[in-house]
Order: sequence, then structure tokens, then C-alpha cells
Amino acid sequence: MSFFFDPFVTFGSPSWLSTLITSALIVPFLLSEPAASATGVTSDTSDLSALLSIRAHLNPFTSLSSWDSHNSSIPFCQWPGVTCGSRKNPGRVTALNLANLGLTGSVSSDIGNLTFLRSLNLSFNNLQGQLPPELGRLSHLELLVLSQNSLEGRIPGTLANCSSLWRISLGSNRLAGEIPAELGALPKLQILSLHYNDIGGRIPASLGNLSSITHIDLVGNRLAGTIPPSLGRLQSLVHISVTRNSLTGAIPVSIFNMSSLSYLYVGYNQLSGTLPPDMGNTLVSLEVLQAFGNILEGPLPISLPNASMLRQIVLPYNRLSGPLPPDIGKLRYLSSLNLRANELEARKSEDWEFFTSLANCSNLQTLDLEYNKLEGPLPSTIVNLSTQLTWLGLGGNEVHGSIPEGIGRFIHLERLHLDQMALTGHVPAAVGKLRNLHVLSLDDNQLSGVLPSAVGNLTQLENLYLNGNGLQGEIPKSFGNLRQLTVCDLSFNKLEGRIPVELTDLTSLTRYLNLSRNLLTGPLPAEVGSFKNLEALDISKNRLSGEIPSTIGECQVLQYLYLQGNHLEGSIPDSLSSLTGIQVLDLSCNNLSGHIPLSFERLEHVRFLNISFNDLQGQVPNEGVFRNANVYSVTGNNKLCGGIRALHLQPCPGHLPGKDGSPAVRSLVSIVITVTLFVLSLAAASYLLHRQRTRKCMPVNVVFFTVSWTARGRANVTHRWAP
Ligand SMILES: *[C@@H]1O[C@H](CO)[C@@H](O)[C@H](O)[C@H]1NC(C)=O
Ligand SMILES: *[C@@H]1O[C@H](CO)[C@@H](O)[C@H](O)[C@H]1NC(C)=O
Ligand SMILES: *[C@@H]1O[C@H](CO)[C@@H](O)[C@H](O)[C@H]1NC(C)=O
Ligand SMILES: *[C@@H]1O[C@H](CO)[C@@H](O)[C@H](O)[C@H]1NC(C)=O
Ligand SMILES: *[C@@H]1O[C@H](CO)[C@@H](O)[C@H](O)[C@H]1NC(C)=O
Ligand SMILES: *[C@@H]1O[C@H](CO)[C@@H](O)[C@H](O)[C@H]1NC(C)=O
Ligand SMILES: *[C@@H]1O[C@H](CO)[C@@H](O)[C@H](O)[C@H]1NC(C)=O
Ligand SMILES: *[C@@H]1O[C@H](CO)[C@@H](O)[C@H](O)[C@H]1NC(C)=O
Ligand SMILES: *[C@@H]1O[C@H](CO)[C@@H](O)[C@H](O)[C@H]1NC(C)=O
Ligand SMILES: *[C@@H]1O[C@H](CO)[C@@H](O)[C@H](O)[C@H]1NC(C)=O
Ligand SMILES: *[C@@H]1O[C@H](CO)[C@@H](O)[C@H](O)[C@H]1NC(C)=O
Repeated sequence: MSFFFDPFVTFGSPSWLSTLITSALIVPFLLSEPAASATGVTSDTSDLSALLSIRAHLNPFTSLSSWDSHNSSIPFCQWPGVTCGSRKNPGRVTALNLANLGLTGSVSSDIGNLTFLRSLNLSFNNLQGQLPPELGRLSHLELLVLSQNSLEGRIPGTLANCSSLWRISLGSNRLAGEIPAELGALPKLQILSLHYNDIGGRIPASLGNLSSITHIDLVGNRLAGTIPPSLGRLQSLVHISVTRNSLTGAIPVSIFNMSSLSYLYVGYNQLSGTLPPDMGNTLVSLEVLQAFGNILEGPLPISLPNASMLRQIVLPYNRLSGPLPPDIGKLRYLSSLNLRANELEARKSEDWEFFTSLANCSNLQTLDLEYNKLEGPLPSTIVNLSTQLTWLGLGGNEVHGSIPEGIGRFIHLERLHLDQMALTGHVPAAVGKLRNLHVLSLDDNQLSGVLPSAVGNLTQLENLYLNGNGLQGEIPKSFGNLRQLTVCDLSFNKLEGRIPVELTDLTSLTRYLNLSRNLLTGPLPAEVGSFKNLEALDISKNRLSGEIPSTIGECQVLQYLYLQGNHLEGSIPDSLSSLTGIQVLDLSCNNLSGHIPLSFERLEHVRFLNISFNDLQGQVPNEGVFRNANVYSVTGNNKLCGGIRALHLQPCPGHLPGKDGSPAVRSLVSIVITVTLFVLSLAAASYLLHRQRTRKCMPVNVVFFTVSWTARGRANVTHRWAP
């Protein structure tokens, strides 16, 4: 199965971390205060006029209404958000905190006149315009926090003059240009946070001069080129994130040599090369390794289990190959091992030792090994994995064997993916113990036996994929309890009996219900109208009988309805034409009789209407949808007449073209025509009947017709008709 659920969001931007660390470290920096005498400037009226200029650029300033020069009863040092020096520099502004006040407008260049400013926090507003280069005059500035605004333009290189800067936070703006190389000269900088901007160019090599830096956060920009090897010189660096950029080349070896580094986030770039074999011995502090969605190749480093602090190994969607380190279970803090969609191998039984050793990771919560090249029997030690597991994925590997009853131990599991393998045996009833399960995919295996009714105990289930197996017996009535279900795929099995009416209790179904290619009998329950939010319903290729219930017209959201290849009879309900969003309607290969509802002309979104190979009679409508012969087929209904010329059907009686002439001649002509028609249609009927038997009800003019599901949800339907 293919789905693109993004498994990384939970570990995505680590900005919470920087916030945490900053709030812990910030205070001591604001304690010491520079002396005014050192600068020679004393005038406090200049700070007043700078503040007034700042206010004048902000809009609306209701939140700053008490910033008022004409009211001398409040000195500006007591204005909200303004902090002045206390001992050495009374009357000089040292901190300006106007964060989260809903301010719009821009940052006045006169801010550069507040030369005693040490902390500037204007974050969480909607400030626009550019950052004034005059910020470079603030030589005492320690904190520059302007994140979460709409600031544009370049980051001024003059910031390099603020040699006291300790933190630069400009994340979540619209800053463009490049990272000024001059910033590498800031000797005290500890935090550089520029995430989610539009910054391009390369990462300047000069950042390797930031000898105090602990955090570099460049997530979500347009940075290109390689990661500069000079960053490996940063001996205090704890955290580097360059996720979601366009970086290329190999991760420099020097980066893997940093004993201080705890967090390495490089996902969603085009980084290539291999991970060095000894990285687990050199990155001794590493806790999180995230490099998903790159083109990394080669084996997972044999030494990785030596990086004893590791909690997360998140490397899906790369080209890693070879076997996994057999002693990976040494990582006692490991909580997430995500290696989905690589080329990792297990051929011999020794190659599976890693799996057994993972049983030692008692904090393991995510284990995703889907879509690799793991081969062999499903290890029996699967039941010894941590019961803390919330995500277990092994699907898309060449694994055989049966699902052990012990699977019921994983009571915290939210997602179980054992699809697209060669699993045999039954679906164990113990699956019903996994009460927290949201997604169960066991599709495309060779599972057999009766579908256990205990599956109906999984009341949190949202997606159920059991299709493409050999499951037998009836659909358990207990499935009606799955009140969170949005997708249910039981297609391509050997399920028999009636469609339980309880299934229509699943009003939560939104994306699709697929029961096609089974052996289901009996009627389509009249309660089918309760699928009020369902987009796609496929019950094709079963043995359903009876009439199509007219209540189906109540499925107002339905876009795809497949009922072909059953034994449905009676007439096509007129109510189908109230499915105004319907795009694909396939009723072919049934025993439907009566007329084509004239109201079908109104189905304006139809891209594919197939009513061929039934027993329909009378006139084919020729307006609306029926004007375009490319979107519908009525073949194999030998009693139909009329319709547009392109169908080449006989004109309907009573619609004969009238010609001049005497009544006698006219009636003679019409008798001749009628007899000819009768003979012709007999011939046509026997021909079609013959063909129908030999061709087994295949729509003749469909070349191909594919449905693919994006994100395991919305259908992409492509229908091509023969020219
Ligand atoms: C800021 O300082 C500059 C240069 O010293 C001066 O020209 C300007 O008038 C000052 N701005 C305000 C608002 O005082
Ligand atoms: C000055 O501000 C104080 C406090 O907000 C207010 O009570 C007073 O009326 C204001 N005076 C003038 C002249 O606006
Ligand atoms: C800036 O202000 C915001 C909003 O009040 C606050 O959450 C944040 O901690 C401040 N940042 C610093 C570095 O002081
Ligand atoms: C930055 O410092 C340099 C050299 O000390 C000086 O020439 C330049 O004018 C300064 N820029 C600002 C904006 O203060
Ligand atoms: C800063 O880094 C660059 C490039 O790595 C280097 O050429 C330069 O000499 C460094 N400057 C200082 C002052 O260390
Ligand atoms: C790694 O660090 C060691 C010692 O700290 C040093 O000798 C070695 O050159 C470094 N290797 C790289 C590739 O930077
Ligand atoms: C892991 O660390 C141990 C002890 O430091 C060392 O002996 C061993 O060689 C390392 N393993 C690998 C694969 O480098
Ligand atoms: C896992 O634990 C078992 C028993 O506690 C031990 O024998 C085994 O060596 C451990 N495996 C690893 C890879 O740490
Ligand atoms: C694995 O689990 C089974 C069943 O719970 C248990 O009998 C067995 O001792 C476990 N094996 C290890 C190595 O813990
Ligand atoms: C499912 O629920 C029923 C009724 O609550 C209970 O009898 C049965 O044991 C449950 N089955 C499983 C496998 O949990
Ligand atoms: C339903 O399942 C069948 C068989 O698995 C598949 O061919 C068909 O495309 C599915 N229907 C839809 C609407 O996806």
C-alpha cells in the first residue's frame, strides 16, 4: 500500500527546545549593565524621541496608548514594555518588550538611537518591512528577538557590530537574501535561529567562527550548496537543524566528530554519501539523528549502538542498504527507530539478530521498518518487543509466517502495518485487544480463515485494510461498532453471506468502503443511505441480488459508486441523479431493466458513467451528460434506442424522420422500416447475446481504467475510452 502520512511532524521543528534553553539561560545576561560614561552619551531626550519615532511607525497603537509625550505624568521609563537602566544609566532604555501585542507597521530605523538597549523582543506581532541596518549601532544588544512577524528583505550585515549579541531569533518571517557572512564574527552568539524564512544562498563557512554557539536553527529556508565543514569546529554546538532546505553533497565528516552535538536534524534535503562507520564512537552525546528524505546510502554505521544516548534514529526515505547492526538493542534509551523505505537487507537468520536485540529497548515506541528488503520468517521475538510500542511497521518486506497471538500484548499500539508481505494463517482474535489501534493494515498477504469478530472491539480504529487476502466467512456484525472508521477495505477476499445491516451504522466512513471482489450475496441494504459522508463505495464483483435501493440517493457526498458485476435487477432508481457530485457511476454487468432515468442528463460532474451490459430498454437520453459519448457507455443493452448519433443506435419508434408523401405511402414506408428494424434488431440481439456469452460482460470500449488512492484516501480516477 502506498500512503504518505508524514511520520516526522511530531519530531519536526525543535524550536521548543531553544525556547526552553533560552529561558533558562537568559537571566544572568541581563544583570550586568554597561556604564553610560563609557559611551559618552547621556541625553535621555534622545531615547524619548527614538521611542516616539518607534511608536509612530507602529500601527495600531491602542496597545501603546500610554506612550504619550504630552502626558508628562508618566515618564517614558514607565511606559509599558520599556525598561530603563537602574543604577549606572537611569533614564536610558535597556529593554524593549513589545511582544505579542498585535502590532503592525514597521521597525523604525531610529531604534538604532537606543544605544543602551540590551534586549529587544518584538516577537509574535505582524510587523512588516525591512530590518533597519541601524540595528548595528546597538553595541550592547544581547537579545534580538523578532520571530513570528512578516518582516522582509535581507538580514543586515551590520548586526555583526552588535558584538554583545547572545541570541538572534528571526524565525517565521519572510526574510530573504542570504545569511550575512559577517555574522560569523559574533563572539558571544549562542543561538542563531532563522527557521521558516525565505533565505537562500549557501550556509557561510564563517559560521564556523561562532565559538560560543550552541544552537543553529535554519529549518525551512531555501539554503543550497553543501554544509560547510567548518561547522565541525564548533565545540559548544549542541543542536543543529537544517531540515527542509535544498542542501546537497555529503554531510561533512567533521560534523560526525562533534562530541558536544546532541541533536542533528538534516531531513528533507538532497544530502548524499554515507554515514561514517565510526560515527557512534565520535558523536558521543548524540540523542537525536534525523535525516529523513535524503539520498543517503551505504549501511547503518556498525558503531551506532555505541552512541549510548541515542533516543531517535529517524532515517526513512533514503537509500541505506545492508544489514542492521545486530546489537542495536544496546541503545537503552531508544524510543524511535524509523528506517522506512530504504534498501536495508536481512537474508540470513543472523541478519535478524537486530530485531531480537530490540527487545532490550524498553522505551521503544516507534519501530518502522516498512518497505525494505528484509526477508525471512516473521521473528517469533516480535512479541518480546516493548509493550510501550505505539507504531509497529514491517509491511512491504518479504516476510512470511503467521501473526502470533502474542500481538495482543501491545496494548498501546496505534498503528500496526503488516501489509504487503506473505503472511499466512488466521487473523488472531487477540488483535481485538489492541484497543488503541487507529490503523490496522494487514492487506495483500495470504491470510485465510474467518475474520474474527473481535476486530469489532477496536473502537478507535480509523483505517482498516484487510483487502487482498483469502479471508472467508461473513463480515462480522460487530464491525458496526467501529464508529471512528473512515476507511474500510475488505475487497479481494472470499467473504460471503449478506452485507450486515450493522455496517451501515458506520456513518463515520468518509473516504471509502470497498467490499468488491468477494462472494457477497443478498441485497444491498436499504440503510445504505446512512453513508452521508462517504466519497467512494465499491461493492462491485460480488453476487448481490435484488434492486438498488432508492435510498442510495441520500449519500450526498458520493463521488464514486461501483456496483458493476453483480446480479442486481429492477430499474435504475431515479434518486441516483440526486448524487450531484458523482464522478464515476458503474452499474454495468447486472440485470437492470427499465429505462435510463432521464434525470441522469443532470449529472454534470460525471466523468465515467457505465450502464452497459444490462437489460435496459427505451430511449437513451441525448441531452446534458449524454451529449458527450466519451463519458458514458450503454453497450450491451439490446433494447435501447435513440440517443446521440455517435451511439449508432436505432431511432426510437415514434421518432422516425417524417417525409412528405401521401398517408398511404407514409404508412407503407413505415411498415417496411418497422419490419426491417425488427429483422435487424433480431439479428443484432442474437449477435450481442452471443458476444455477451463469449466475452463475459466486459465493457467493449474501455481501454483502461485505473483508480489510485493518494494518501490512502481521495481517489484519483483515470478513465480512458477508446477513440
Ligand atoms: C537618531 O540619531 C540620529 C543620528 O544621531 C539623528 O540624526 C536622529 O535625529 C535621531 N533620531 C531621533 C528620532 O531622535
Ligand atoms: C495622563 O495619563 C494618566 C494615566 O493614564 C491619565 O490619568 C491622565 O488623564 C493623562 N493625562 C493627560 C493630560 O492625558
Ligand atoms: C519574547 O516575548 C515572547 C512573548 O511574550 C516570549 O514568549 C518570549 O519568551 C520572549 N523571548 C525572550 C527571548 O525573552
Ligand atoms: C560597524 O562597525 C564598523 C567598524 O567598526 C563601522 O565602520 C561601521 O560604521 C559600523 N556600522 C554601524 C551600522 O554601526
Ligand atoms: C572566519 O571564518 C572564515 C572561514 O572559515 C575564515 O577565513 C576567517 O579567517 C575566520 N575569521 C576569524 C576572525 O576567525
Ligand atoms: C576529529 O577529532 C579529532 C580529535 O578531536 C581530530 O584529531 C580529527 O582530526 C577530527 N577529524 C575530523 C575529520 O575532523
Ligand atoms: C563500541 O565501543 C567499544 C568500547 O568503547 C569498542 O570496543 C568497540 O569497538 C565499539 N564498537 C564499534 C563497532 O566501533
Ligand atoms: C539483551 O538483554 C539480554 C538479557 O537481558 C542479554 O543477554 C542480551 O545480550 C542483550 N542484548 C543486547 C543487544 O544488549
Ligand atoms: C519472549 O516472550 C516469550 C513470551 O512472552 C517468553 O516466553 C520468552 O521468554 C521471551 N524471550 C525473551 C528472550 O525475553
Ligand atoms: C471483545 O469484546 C467482547 C465483548 O466486550 C469480549 O467478550 C471479547 O473478549 C473481546 N475480545 C477481545 C479479543 O478483546
Ligand atoms: C476496491 O478493491 C479492488 C480490489 O482490491 C480494486 O481493484 C478497486 O480499485 C478498489 N476500488 C476502489 C474504488 O478503490
